[in-house]
Order: sequence, then structure tokens, then C-alpha cells
Amino acid sequence: MQNVTRTIQVSSETQTRQLAATLARLARHGDVILLNGDLGAGKTLFARAFIQALSTDKNIDVPSPTFTLLQNYDVNGTVIWHFDLYRLSDPDEIYEIGWEDALAGGISLIEWPERLDYHIDEINSDKLLTINIKLDSQNPDNREIDLYCGPIPSDKTEHKQSEPAWHERLKSL
Ligand SMILES: Nc1ncnc2c1ncn2[C@@H]1O[C@H](COP(=O)(O)OP(=O)(O)OP(=O)(O)O)[C@@H](O)[C@H]1O
Ligand SMILES: [Mg+2]
Repeated sequence: MQNVTRTIQVSSETQTRQLAATLARLARHGDVILLNGDLGAGKTLFARAFIQALSTDKNIDVPSPTFTLLQNYDVNGTVIWHFDLYRLSDPDEIYEIGWEDALAGGISLIEWPERLDYHIDEINSDKLLTINIKLDSQNPDNREIDLYCGPIPSDKTEHKQSEPAWHERLKSL
């Protein structure tokens, strides 16, 4: 089972952006961040703020990869892979858009990660951070943001660890 490591209530886009920037500073080469949430929850807004926080160009254009499925960015020598898998028709289609390259290095931000299906098992659980963004039916500006760290239940592989796992890194939040 995954454990909820942190639950954060935000009441504005600015607060969501700030959380994204904080997590961007904690992110390391090889990390995979899954962004779950309904349509309009704020996954792209989060990814945009994350990428802008790491880029020297704070206004770098970060379009939603709704139709391209993937946009990548070279940020100070680290590639950020921003996936939106909503339109993935088959989990294996992920290979055609650079899944193996993304797992081999850089930082991946993945919207609609449930479309990966069994490929989720290929992610190193120490490097995995799962973020669930929940809308609030009472207030359009509020979100509940849950952060979950690995291990994930189906991950049976052992990985060599060079950086602290996400649950260690989140202690600074
Ligand atoms: N606290 C908040 N955090 C994030 N977004 C917010 C917040 N309050 C309002 N919003 C609005 O919610 C919308 C989020 O849109 P966004 O495109 O990021 O959603 P998404 O989860 O990527 O949707 P999709 O599943 O269609 O890709 C934006 O219009 C943003 O202005
Ligand atoms: Mg989106």
C-alpha cells in the first residue's frame, strides 16, 4: 500500500503554483511525478509552475500536451518530460512517444498516469511521487492536494538508491 505522506489544502492558483515550485526544488534527476485529478483539477497548472520554477526563463511557454501527448524541456541540462496521456489509446503506445527515454533520465511529469496501466510498474518506486489534486464542489479556487510516496504495491524490483527517496525529501515541507 502507498501511504499518504502529506495532504495540503490550497485556496488559490498561487498556492498551487507555490507548492509546485517547492516540489520542483526537491526534485532530482530520474524522478517521476504522477499528476492525478479530474478534468480542470490543475494538473497542467501544476506542471507549468514546476517547469517555470526550474527554468531560468520564468515565463517559459508550457503548453498543455493535450494533443502532442508529450512536450519536453531542457532546463539547465535536465530534460523535463511533460506527458498528458488522456488521449493514449493503448498503454504500449507510450513507447512511440519516448517512454524509455523518459525513464532513462530527466524528470517526468505525467498527467492521466492511469493510462500507463501496467507500465506504472516500470517506475523506480523511490523516485516516484504521486500527486492527487481534488476539486472542491463548494469553492472553485480550493484544492486538496495529496502527496503519496512509493513503494507502490506491485513494485517488486529492487533499485539502487543514489538520492533520498521522496518520503525523506518531503520531511522538509
Ligand atoms: N487552487 C487552484 N489550483 C489549480 N488550478 C486552479 C485553482 N483554482 C482555480 N484553478 C483553475 O483550474 C484550472 C485548472 O486547469 P488545468 O488545465 O491545469 O487542469 P488539468 O487538471 O490539467 O485538466 P485536464 O485534465 O483537462 O488536463 C485553471 O483554469 C485554473 O485557473
Ligand atoms: Mg491538463
